[in-house]
Amino acid sequence: MENELINIKNNAMSLILDTDDPEELEEIKLEFLGRGGQLTLLLKQLPKIDPEKRKEIGVLANEVKNTIEETLKEKTKDAKHGETRAKIERIDVTNPGIRPPLGHHHLITQAISEITSIFDRIGFTRVRYPEVEWDWYAFGALNFPEGHPARDDWETFFIDQESSKKYGPMLLTPHTSSGQIREMLSSKPPIKMLNIAKCYRRQSDVSHTPMFHQFEGLAIDKDLSIVNLKGVLDYFVKSYFGENRKARIRPYHFEFTEPSFEVDVSCGVCEGAGCKLCKEGWLEMGGAGMVHPNVLINCGIDPKEFNGFAFGWGVERVLMMKEGIEIDDLRLLYSNKLEFLEQF
Ligand code: PHE
Repeated sequence: MENELINIKNNAMSLILDTDDPEELEEIKLEFLGRGGQLTLLLKQLPKIDPEKRKEIGVLANEVKNTIEETLKEKTKDAKHGETRAKIERIDVTNPGIRPPLGHHHLITQAISEITSIFDRIGFTRVRYPEVEWDWYAFGALNFPEGHPARDDWETFFIDQESSKKYGPMLLTPHTSSGQIREMLSSKPPIKMLNIAKCYRRQSDVSHTPMFHQFEGLAIDKDLSIVNLKGVLDYFVKSYFGENRKARIRPYHFEFTEPSFEVDVSCGVCEGAGCKLCKEGWLEMGGAGMVHPNVLINCGIDPKEFNGFAFGWGVERVLMMKEGIEIDDLRLLYSNKLEFLEQF
């Protein structure tokens, strides 16, 4: 038995030392240490041996088993290491790398920069004013009498904690028109501003989100007329939607403009003829008008010397009216769904 053990050890060791292949090493392990392996079978005969010699043989058998196991372990480790090294050496460093995924601007950010640059070309300067505002800037100074029901149309979020004696309760701006007041109080005519900001209203359905964006134009100068307003509207509609689109104004009512208009854009699908989308050939875009004299007075501007026009439209709204952009549910824009956002 002693000799057989030594033989097994020598055979196993020479096989192990002879290979660098992890698969072959695995086979050798089975051949000697597996359930039917040479060493395992031999050890099964241990009980048959004379008890006096058994202990000695047992120690030797253990030693043989440990040596084979250890050497196999070492060799397998080295063999695997060698394989990885070989793989690394096969990498061609002149191959182009893998591009990391790149994000892009949100659809609304893209629309805001496009709108900004369209108005920049005709001299309207982009400004920013507070989103958390006093009632007086959002309503009072814009010629809304206190408690007047017209205020209800703006579905405003009020912030109860803060209220100013002079400016009334604090609120989240329900429209960008509060920027007209801030602008007229902080600079002197001539004025040409473009205020783009987040607005907030108590609304949420497929075409409304509680937070949305508006862009508001204001021009104050001497002898401005509806013709100037119409010129700016036409220019914007053609630049943003395309040369074939037209703008029209319809009489409307706002507290802060007189006269006031609702602005429509000719439908891009039927070009004004009337279709399923627009019904009568026109899509409603937003409000506009000549600045009300009371608003000028509230901002310290003499209406006998200066006048002006203003317009305010939703960024999401004009975006949805642009050809090629199909958004079934406006709320998707702010849901952080990458599958949706990556389309644009
Ligand atoms: N602020 C108005 C709204 O939110 C739009 C508007 C702006 C109308 C400027 C007239 C002039 O509906």
